[in-house]
Amino acid sequence: MKKVVVGVLVLAAAALAGAPQPIALPKPQTQGGMPLMQALNQRRSGREFSGQKLSPQTLSNLLWAAFGINRPDGRRTAPSASNRQTIDIYVVTAEAAYLYNPKDQRLEPVATGDFRAATGNQDFVSHAPVNLVFVSDYAKMAKTAAETQALYAGAETGYISQNVYLYCASEGLVTVVRATVDRAATAKALALRPDQKITLAQTVGYPK
Ligand SMILES: Cc1cc2nc3c(=O)[nH]c(=O)nc-3n(C[C@H](O)[C@H](O)[C@H](O)COP(=O)(O)O)c2cc1C
Repeated sequence: MKKVVVGVLVLAAAALAGAPQPIALPKPQTQGGMPLMQALNQRRSGREFSGQKLSPQTLSNLLWAAFGINRPDGRRTAPSASNRQTIDIYVVTAEAAYLYNPKDQRLEPVATGDFRAATGNQDFVSHAPVNLVFVSDYAKMAKTAAETQALYAGAETGYISQNVYLYCASEGLVTVVRATVDRAATAKALALRPDQKITLAQTVGYPK
């Protein structure tokens, strides 16, 4: 009996060791950065990326700027209709795909492997270090008219995307928002439900 229990424990430990673990991000740095008018002056799309990865601190700051929590009641850096907060940010890197958890400032693993190429059809997508995928959870808008759902999903993504643009301008990062997403392949890689709809993707990295 004792042997069986030990065996089960060993198997459980092995399974845990192989399973992707959540990644705790450093506390975001919410002070400083470039003055707003300068960042607006620098905001632009870029499509040439080096292979340099983002540090955990930079990724944490980027995600907080995008759609982090900026008030004790859980409200965020971007507005959302009736504060429903329907947009989730998935983070696709060379190693894995993660879901940004703003409450715990953490990356929740969704799938292990390199799914970057699935998130777009432009060459840079597969080698830039980070592709963000914006996903609207229509289950949170169940009582909203269909055309309004699409409007809210697009508008809320736009605010978040612009936050990413301004953070990137401030930090000398390159970024481009993209409508060209292989939605079927990405939804499969991210194990999305049918009522989770991909709005846009946004590539982020360092200049070449
Ligand atoms: C909704 C939307 C979808 C876009 N889709 C793509 C895209 O799939 N690929 C791409 O390279 N750029 C895409 N862009 C970026 C635009 O091409 C870019 O914003 C435009 O050329 C203006 O350049 P700027 O951002 O530097 O001002 C998209 C922009 C928006 C707002």
